[in-house]
Amino acid sequence: IDMYKLAPSILAADFWRLGEYIKEVEEAGADYLHIDVMDGAYVPSISFGAPVIKSIRKESKMVFDVHLMVEEPIRYLEDFKEAGADIITVHAEACRHLHRTVAKIKELGLKAGVSLNPSTPLVELEYIYQDIDMVLIMSVNPGFGGQSFLPLALDKIKTLKEILKQRQLNIDIEVDGGITLSNVGEVLKAGADVIVAGTAVFNGDIKKNVIDFKSAFPK
Ligand code: DX5
Ligand code: ZN
Repeated sequence: IDMYKLAPSILAADFWRLGEYIKEVEEAGADYLHIDVMDGAYVPSISFGAPVIKSIRKESKMVFDVHLMVEEPIRYLEDFKEAGADIITVHAEACRHLHRTVAKIKELGLKAGVSLNPSTPLVELEYIYQDIDMVLIMSVNPGFGGQSFLPLALDKIKTLKEILKQRQLNIDIEVDGGITLSNVGEVLKAGADVIVAGTAVFNGDIKKNVIDFKSAFPK
C-alpha cells in the first residue's frame, strides 16, 4: 500500500461522461475518488448530492472520499453513508456541533475528516484530533474548481504535520485546491499525505496526468 494518495476531484469532470472519467482515473492508479458536495449555502455553488454518488458507487471500487461543503452536514450523514461514502469530511466552520457530527460519522462506521478553510486556524482541531482520521487543509476558498493555490496553506500543513508528529497521532493530511504538477512537490514536502486535484487531472490526458502526479510522490 502506498503511503501517499492521489484523490482526483470529479468536480472537474464532464458529467455527461462521468462514468468513463472515473474508470479512467481508477485504471490509471488513482487511490481515492474525491467527491465535492456543495449546497449553495455554505459555498456559493451547487454541485450534486447523494443520488449521483449512489449511481457511481455501483460502477467503482475506489475509496469514496466525500467532501461535504454543506451547512450542518449532520443532517445528511446517513444519506451519504447509504450512497456509498467511505470517508466523510465536514467543515469545522459549517458544524454547530463538530464533536457530535464527527462522532456520528464514526458511529456509521466511516472514516471522519475535518476540513479547515484558508482563514481558519489549526487551533479549531485541538479537542477533536483524537476522534478523526483525516484533516483536510483547504488551499483555496471552497466553492469552485480551477482556482489558484494559496501559499498560506504550506505553513499550515507544516505546522499541522509537526503537531501530529509530536502527539503521535495517526491522522492523514489531505490538501485540496489549486494543486498542479508544478506545486505538488512543495505540498508533499510540507507534509501532505493525500493530494486532491481536479482541473490538473481532468484537463488533457487524464491517464498521463494521474501517472505524472503519482510519479511526483516520494517513494
Ligand atoms: C473546491 C473543491 C475542490 C476542487 C479542486 O471547493 O473542494 O476539491 O474541486 O479543484 P482544483 O484542483 O481544480 O482546484
Ligand atoms: Zn474538495
